[in-house]
Amino acid sequence: MSAAPLTGGGKVTVPEVLSRKSFSSAGSTKNKITCLTAYDYPTARLLDEAGVDILLVGDSLAMVVLGYDSTLPVTLDEVLMHVRAVRRGTRRALLVADMPYGSYHISLEESVRNAVRLVKEGGAEAVKVEGGERRIELIARLVEAEIPVMGHVGLTPQSVNAMGGFHVQGKTNDAARQVERDARAVEAAGAFAVVLESMPRELAARITEKLHIPTIGIGAGPDCDGQVLVFHDLVGLTVGHTPKFARKYADLGAEISRAASEYCDDVRNGRFPSDAESYHSPAELRDHLPARQRT
Ligand code: KIV
Repeated sequence: MSAAPLTGGGKVTVPEVLSRKSFSSAGSTKNKITCLTAYDYPTARLLDEAGVDILLVGDSLAMVVLGYDSTLPVTLDEVLMHVRAVRRGTRRALLVADMPYGSYHISLEESVRNAVRLVKEGGAEAVKVEGGERRIELIARLVEAEIPVMGHVGLTPQSVNAMGGFHVQGKTNDAARQVERDARAVEAAGAFAVVLESMPRELAARITEKLHIPTIGIGAGPDCDGQVLVFHDLVGLTVGHTPKFARKYADLGAEISRAASEYCDDVRNGRFPSDAESYHSPAELRDHLPARQRT
């Protein structure tokens, strides 16, 4: 696997992500933007070294790491802790932190303060907020505070209660027009990229063609400027249902179960640890030990 060529220094930056828009609209897929979620240090290191362009500390953390059944309960402090861990493992990729539910819904002032924490205390290089037209003022304020913003429209999981579940969006003419207005609003407000989640491929393609900022799709077909997946879906660690777009590239869940049950078996049958896996007393002390420990 090789990383996509970069224009300078190797580090993925916000301007570099923006510059990929023109490449992909020329019809080539070589410069497509790759994004994966990451929540901890070792995973961040592996994904960064594999050449993933953007690491997103998503609020999906609530579901795939913390075991909640929606993204709503995760707090800013919890996200912050994971952003710090991912920061320590990331050198090349652009690090984006999700603003969790409640951290940008009270007032503009509090929202900016919370975003600043993700940058200042967490080391995030950009933040992501869900919502379109309703976020125009917020996005503009964040950009004014020198915080690059990634938008997120279509299926916005923080709206699960308002939407009545996790459903594909933009399936009627009116709904499609609304998703398009949302994407345009996010761009007009100053976002440098926008996630398009769970919508018909044709709608995502139309939005991608019309916007000047890159679109990053998830469940939005292949015509976006980039793709994002939840890491746990990618490697088979998600418990329960996964959506049809979540291609499983490895089955680490099965591998972890196999390793853990083999370990239990070995311990219970005296095969672990072996003598080679044990420390030994110096030879002069061995004579004083009970016979069974002298080997
Ligand atoms: O929280 C998350 O993981 C996300 C991605 C699915 C885009 O928002």
